[in-house]
Formats: sequence, C-alpha cells, structure tokens
Amino acid sequence: MIPGAQMQRLVPVSEDARLDRFGLVVARGALFRGLPPSVLEDLTRRLQVRSRLAGAVLVAESDPGDAMFLIHQGKARVTLLGENGRELILSQLGPGDFFGEMSLLDGRPRSANVVAEEDMTLLVLTRDAFAEHLRAHPQTALNLLAELSLRLRRADETIADLALHDVHQRLVRTLERLAREDGEEQEGGLLLRRRPTQQDLANMVGSCRETISRTFTSLIKQGLMVPRGRSLLLTRRLLAA
Ligand code: CMP
Repeated sequence: MIPGAQMQRLVPVSEDARLDRFGLVVARGALFRGLPPSVLEDLTRRLQVRSRLAGAVLVAESDPGDAMFLIHQGKARVTLLGENGRELILSQLGPGDFFGEMSLLDGRPRSANVVAEEDMTLLVLTRDAFAEHLRAHPQTALNLLAELSLRLRRADETIADLALHDVHQRLVRTLERLAREDGEEQEGGLLLRRRPTQQDLANMVGSCRETISRTFTSLIKQGLMVPRGRSLLLTRRLLAA
C-alpha cells in the first residue's frame, strides 16, 4: 500500500467532461493516433468516465487488474516502492496517455502503482470491452505494440543510465529530458517550466534528496543552472557538457 495515499474516492463527473470525452486530447493519445474514425468510435463507445481526486491510488501494485485507463484530464505517476518505502518513479503520465494495459494483456497482477498527482478524469475500458475491441479492430493492437516498444526503449535507456552514469549525470539528463518535454528554448539555454521537487527528482534518478540537493547547489554555484522562480534554466554550457 502507498503510505498517505487516498484510496479511490469518486467525485461527480461534470456533464462537460462527459460531453468532451471523445475530445481531441484523447484522440491524439498514443492508443488512438492515426486510427480511422470507425475504430475510434468503436473504442470510445466502450469507455466509461470516472473522476478521481489528487492523491488517489488509481492502480495498486500486485492487485488483480480488470480494466485499463485513458487519461482525459490530469497527471499521474507510475511508481514502484522499495521495502524501505522509497519510491522510484518509472514514468509520468498526462492527457492522452494510458495505463493498466499490462495486466489485461498478460493476466498477471498490476506491475506498478499509478497515483493521481492532480484531480483526474479517466476513461475506463474493462477487460472484456478491451478484448472485444481488439478482436474487431487489430489496428489498435499495432498502436499498443508501438507504445509498448517505446516504453521498452525508455526502460533500456534507464538501465543504461543507472549502470553507466553517476547521479550528477543522471540528474542533468533527467532535467534535460523534462525540459525538452515541457520547456522552451531561450537565449541562455533550455528553460524547464515547473521544476519537480528535489524529492521527486531523487525518485526519478534513483538517488536520495540530500544528494540531489548537494548536486543542485554545486551546479548553481558553477553557473551551469539558474533557478528562476519555479522554473530552471539549463545553460548551454551544461547541456554541451
Ligand atoms: P499494469 O501492470 O496493468 O498496472 C500498472 C501499470 O503501470 C502498467 O499496467 C502500465 O500501464 C504502467 N507501467 C508499468 N511500467 C511502466 C513504465 N516503465 N512506463 C510507463 N508505464 C508503466
């Protein structure tokens, strides 16, 4: 169980969320990308809308799985917990992303926890609905395989990172990846908007907050990173190194 997390509490779904449930956000997600309208319609017809509050455990590691989820609104993180309660963040998910498909595909318990970081609207596809859709529209399975390949590539990168790079390098690589996903090029370098907390960064790179804090201080002292409120400028010198 995840300490301090609220178990799934239902909040009322607004009519807006219901009306907008086939909206572009989801249609652009990895599962739907490039699918013809008929396939999209078949899939969306089978979805149910659910709302969850920030902090809710959407999926708990080792539980049996009977549904998968598409994120319509909000952000979530995929985590594993060590025996000492230390959290490792495997991935962060946002609108258009999906999760919970692995247990449906291999019939095994949930492989990880998925925790809501914000209030969320989810589109739920039950095991039976998922299987029926895939039998009728194998195109969706190709999208699913492409996304699973992408995740395997990322997991390979993470393994290489852990084996080949020290904490300093892992931190800089993670900040750069985050800035490329949600940031902007500026004259002085790459601006990372909404810098994660040092604890979250530690959980992403497999280190502890104290080490991340020391590395941060040293990079800032050397002028390689410049904090700007909640944002962080990664200088060209840092990125080139
Ligand atoms: P499932 O095992 O059913 O429940 C936990 C979910 O977390 C899993 O399906 C995936 O959807 C998701 N998940 C597990 N590992 C990763 C990862 N490395 N990257 C992104 N998502 C993941």
